[in-house]
Order: sequence, then C-alpha cells, then structure tokens
Amino acid sequence: MGQAQQLSHVYPRGSRVDDRGRIEVGGCDTTELAREFGTPAYVVVEDDIRARAHAFVSAFGAHTDAFDVIFASKAFPCTAVYRLLWEEGIGCDVAGPGELTQALAAGVDPARIYLHGNAKTHAEMAQALAAGVGYVIVDNLRDLDLLEELAGSRPGAAPQAAFLRVAPGVSPDTHPAISTGGPNTKFGFDLAHAPAALERAAASPAIDLRGIHLHIGSQILDTAPFRTALEAVAPLAAGLPEINFGGGLGVAYGAHDEPPSIEAYVAAKVAAVRDLLGADVRMVDEPGRALVANSTVTLYEVQSVKRNVDTYVAVDGGMSDNLRPMLYNARYEARISGRTGAGTRCHVVGKHCESGDILVRDAELADPQPGDILVTPGTGAYGHAMANTYNGALRPPVIFVSGGNARVVVRRETHADLLLRDVG
Ligand SMILES: Cc1ncc(COP(=O)(O)O)c(C=O)c1O
Repeated sequence: MGQAQQLSHVYPRGSRVDDRGRIEVGGCDTTELAREFGTPAYVVVEDDIRARAHAFVSAFGAHTDAFDVIFASKAFPCTAVYRLLWEEGIGCDVAGPGELTQALAAGVDPARIYLHGNAKTHAEMAQALAAGVGYVIVDNLRDLDLLEELAGSRPGAAPQAAFLRVAPGVSPDTHPAISTGGPNTKFGFDLAHAPAALERAAASPAIDLRGIHLHIGSQILDTAPFRTALEAVAPLAAGLPEINFGGGLGVAYGAHDEPPSIEAYVAAKVAAVRDLLGADVRMVDEPGRALVANSTVTLYEVQSVKRNVDTYVAVDGGMSDNLRPMLYNARYEARISGRTGAGTRCHVVGKHCESGDILVRDAELADPQPGDILVTPGTGAYGHAMANTYNGALRPPVIFVSGGNARVVVRRETHADLLLRDVG
C-alpha cells in the first residue's frame, strides 16, 4: 500500500491522492463520483469556496470596516454558488437580468447587487431597478439617459446609487481578451470623456453618484498595476464617498503558478486607496475567479488513446465544458484518478469537431486507457459559465461535495432540453 499524497494548490483545498492513487476532493473519491453522477461533471468543493470567501472578508476587515466584497458572478453563475457566497456575507455583481434572476432566486438581497453591462437595454435597466438593485454601474451615456428616465420617474423613490465606470488606460500583463481598462476599450469612459460624464451624473437628481468604478482585467499576477490604475482615476474619484475597484486577482492553473495571496492583494488595494483617496473612502471589491476557480475539478472519462505523430487522449467533453483553452490558450493540468506516476506525454483533447479543441497540451499522464477517469483542476471559473451545446453536447452537472457527501446542484442537460426551444 502506498502513502496518501497531498495535491498541488491548483486542486481544491484538502484534496489528496489516496493509497490506490485515486483523487479525493471534498472527502469524495472522484472515481466513485464519476460512476455515480456520470461524466463530464464539475465537482465543486464547498468548503474551498467558503474558505476563500472568508479570507477576502477577513482580509478587508483587518484594515477597515468600510468595505463590501461582492462576487463577480459571471465567473460561476449558478444558484447554489450565489447562495453559498451569500451565506458567507458576499453579495454579487450581475452582467444582466439572467444573472440577476439567479442571484434573486438564491436569496441575495437586491441591495447588495451591482448591475453591470456595456449594452444594457431599456428593458434590462427597468427590470433591475424594479428588482431594487443596490447599485448601477454606469458604463456609457445611454446608461445615464436610461437612469434619468427610469430612476427619475419613480415617485417618491430615492435617487439610484451608481458608480461611473472609467477605463484608467492601464493594461496589466494578462491576455488581451481579459484586459479591460486599457487606453482603448469597450468598457466604461476613457479618461478624456470621463469628466463630462462625471459632471452630468453628479448633477442628476435621479442619480446618487457613489464613486468611480474601475476594473483593469482578470488573471492579474502582480499587484502593482492596481495602484497605477487608481493613480490615473484618482483626480476623478477624489471627494466621492466610495470606490469600486473591480476584481482581477489571478489564480494558479499550474503547480508552478504563484499568484499573490488574497491578503497581499487586499493589502495592496487598501493601501492604494488610503494613499490616493484617503482613509474614509468605502471600498467595493469584485473578485470572481479568485473565489471559485480552484474550488472545482472537472471529471471526464477517457474514450480513446490514439498514437499519431503525437499521442491524443480523447475525453467525453472538451470545448463545450471548458472554452478557455480555445479562447485564451489557457493551460490546465490533468491527472488520471487511480493511477500515479508520469508516463505518457500526450494531448488531452475534446470530442468536438475542431482541431483546436485541446483541453491540455503536452500533459504527462500515467498510462492512459479508455475508461479511465481524468481530472482537470482549476475549472471553477468560466467553465460552467461558458458551457455550450456545440455538437449537441449536453452541459454537465454541477456537483457540490463537502465532508464526504455529494449532491447535484445543477443537473445534467438532457436531449429533451436540447429540443425545448426548437418550436418550428
Ligand atoms: C467589471 C468586472 N468586475 C470584476 C470581474 C472579475 O474579475 P476576476 O474574475 O478576474 O476577479 C470582471 C471580470 O471580467 C469584470 O468584468
């Protein structure tokens, strides 16, 4: 009998390899989970999300009482995740009415919901205001028109609390597709146009302008750009009571990735706000990926092992359950549950009709065989969120695990679901 091993920090906290080489997450054997719930499946370790949520709240709490941590829910929008984070004291931002509907269904207090969007429709803004969202993030002049029309016509209602989103012109070292605050972006007002928008918002009786919002991008592994970005918007933010500093903290996708800790990220942002805006300013932070990415592993079953020039290990999912490798060349790890040791250099590929449907390039797997259960860690952010039905794939279930127990919180899609909208 071998020795049980810990896994790298890419896996959910508390994960281990048991003495048969099986990967255990949340006290559950992934091979058994695959048998019980089928594959592909997202397996989420509840306690991992709770621990990260707690770390964010206590890291801010160590510096100030005037803060709000909200979940950038686009990273993992499902009712059970909203509810779990809400239980940990974390509200959310929503990109539109779909996420809003899920957040409300989970019991999130609308006063702790922040409405985003760079193309909000009239109906969407009306729905969000009717639901009582606490804050609207104003992205463009049309948002100001809509707020003036809709918030301004609510009889006896208080003005709508809002932040003005400003792109500080700072591009951190991340993939261009997830860099959002550069000098030429579709998000928010650039520095040239922000002052007029700010003046208009501040003067509007329909709007209670709380502060500036900035989000420079995602998967950021160095805290320095946050201060640079705040420096750029500080002249606009000065004198306003709050600042919404977006999200952005990067995570480990590989065993050698060492992102800043939650505590270091929070300390850097708090120090920047204190130094540049003053100690009394209330801070809002919108972490997405850092709350959920490492909480989750995806389970697949190996279907074929093919030796062409390279070796291709094909699994029963792919770009329909994890689009990030296709979108950003994102790198993942993979391991076979029930077998240890490096062995075969191969590419883990999906089942879809695209040569680019490669989940893990240059993986090292221990003698992969059809029927093996393959585990990819770090799939909690933007996995379920971007899942799709390409090639008629059925979107996987989300399984919560804790203390050795497992429960389905999103069921697997069915072929009947695929036919539901085909009405002609
Ligand atoms: C406005 C906004 N806030 C927060 C986030 C969350 O970013 P992250 O997942 O990197 O924390 C995003 C992500 O795209 C975003 O667009």
